[in-house]
Amino acid sequence: MTTGKLLYIETFGCQMNVNDSEKIAGILRDEGYVRTDNVKDADLVILNTCSVRAKAEERVYGQLATYKGLKRSKPQLLLGVGGCVAQQEGERMLERLPHLDFVFGTHSLHLLPDIVADAAAGRRQVLIEFLGAEERKELFPSVAEGQGVTRFVTITQGCDNFCSYCIVPHVRGREVSRRSDDILAEVRQMTEGGVKEVSLLGQNVNSYGLKDPNEIDFPHLVRKVAAIPGIERLRFITSHPKDISPDLIACFAELPQLASHVHLPLQAGSDRILGLMNRGYTVAEYLAVIDALKAVRPDMQFTSDMIVGFPGETDEEFAATLAIMERVRYIDLYSFMYSPRPGTAAASMADDLTRAVKQERLTQLQARQRQLTLEIHREYLGRRYPVLVEGTSKRGNQLMGKTSCNQVVLIEAPATVIGTTVTVLITGATVSSLTGDVVGKMDTDT
Ligand code: SAH
Ligand code: SF4
Ligand code: F3S
Repeated sequence: MTTGKLLYIETFGCQMNVNDSEKIAGILRDEGYVRTDNVKDADLVILNTCSVRAKAEERVYGQLATYKGLKRSKPQLLLGVGGCVAQQEGERMLERLPHLDFVFGTHSLHLLPDIVADAAAGRRQVLIEFLGAEERKELFPSVAEGQGVTRFVTITQGCDNFCSYCIVPHVRGREVSRRSDDILAEVRQMTEGGVKEVSLLGQNVNSYGLKDPNEIDFPHLVRKVAAIPGIERLRFITSHPKDISPDLIACFAELPQLASHVHLPLQAGSDRILGLMNRGYTVAEYLAVIDALKAVRPDMQFTSDMIVGFPGETDEEFAATLAIMERVRYIDLYSFMYSPRPGTAAASMADDLTRAVKQERLTQLQARQRQLTLEIHREYLGRRYPVLVEGTSKRGNQLMGKTSCNQVVLIEAPATVIGTTVTVLITGATVSSLTGDVVGKMDTDT
């Protein structure tokens, strides 16, 4: 075992990767590596990469180029690449970049101690084997590294949906559900350590357990997690609209711990485009889910992902996406310009839209969303909400918490309220956050 070495991890992409970076840090901590925020001090640098759009992949190569100089000035420095670009590119990366020491895929985190030891001994290698359900222990390393009031817990790996534009199933493998006993044990460990809010994480949480006859389904998992002492708030991400069951909707009526926010990616507002995307639902079916959720939770807020400029998208079809935005009134939206990805079905569809048209649609959609977000945030002014205080704000001069609907709330309060739920009177609203005054503790002020 080596001791006292410093590890720098740079994370790109989604919450899956953020979570994996915590696991990487935990696995390497057992090998004597301590995490640092300063790349110049590091003995080992790991890039945890994202491949979801071409731009994300280009950023990784750009960033790797900048490490060339660092490696020259510090030859004993080890440089490794993991995550979705590593899984996609494998051997090609090692060939293309002579200053790279190792490449490990999305299912190879547990092999890191050996990979790093081999790299230190001068052996460069690529490890990108996929694991199956029988190797669940390796696929879901339970390393509760990290701290805070809120934490993510991985419940599934991979995806079987093969949306025609998406590279995730290709780089994350087939869907495998983690054992519910392991999930519950990890959540218990977290709440005993002071965690108050847990977010269950998977590419499509609603299909949890469905392929395993010995496993409970997602609504039952949600009920069991909510019953763990100390869980004040429970969230999950991401929900696929085609797999939301009436039983999950019933959970929102039953369980006060479930937060009043659902991220429900629509992707596009026309049935023809949804069909080409292989999403498995129509706009009407999607809206029926939204309405059913609102019926059981009138204060529910929704967020979504949208893709503009999918191959062949007409002006009318884009207008249909805008119309759904108005109908649902999303509190926030993650919107992207379509980007063809290698090996996906949509990459071979005729794409006759110019970049300028796609950009114009994206700009229009994002401008309208900013207005909607601000309008919705202003509806909160002058009202009181419970806010779970998570820590200090980014600027560090205030405290930051979240409403049940997942809005950021900035408050002036002593650090002793971190980790508690306070009642906040909302006095300010911008596109990005709310501000307010603490008017009471939740348990005393109802
Ligand atoms: N599993 C999640 C998210 C996966 S990736 C889900 O199903 O919602 C996150 C988002 O990136 C997707 O929801 C989609 O909106 C976007 N995305 C994925 N592939 C893309 C591509 N090729 N071009 C543009 N956006 C893409
Ligand atoms: Fe990609 Fe679709 Fe799977 Fe989400 S559900 S990860 S968009 S294939
Ligand atoms: Fe996530 Fe990007 Fe991989 S969105 S699953 S890190 S391709």
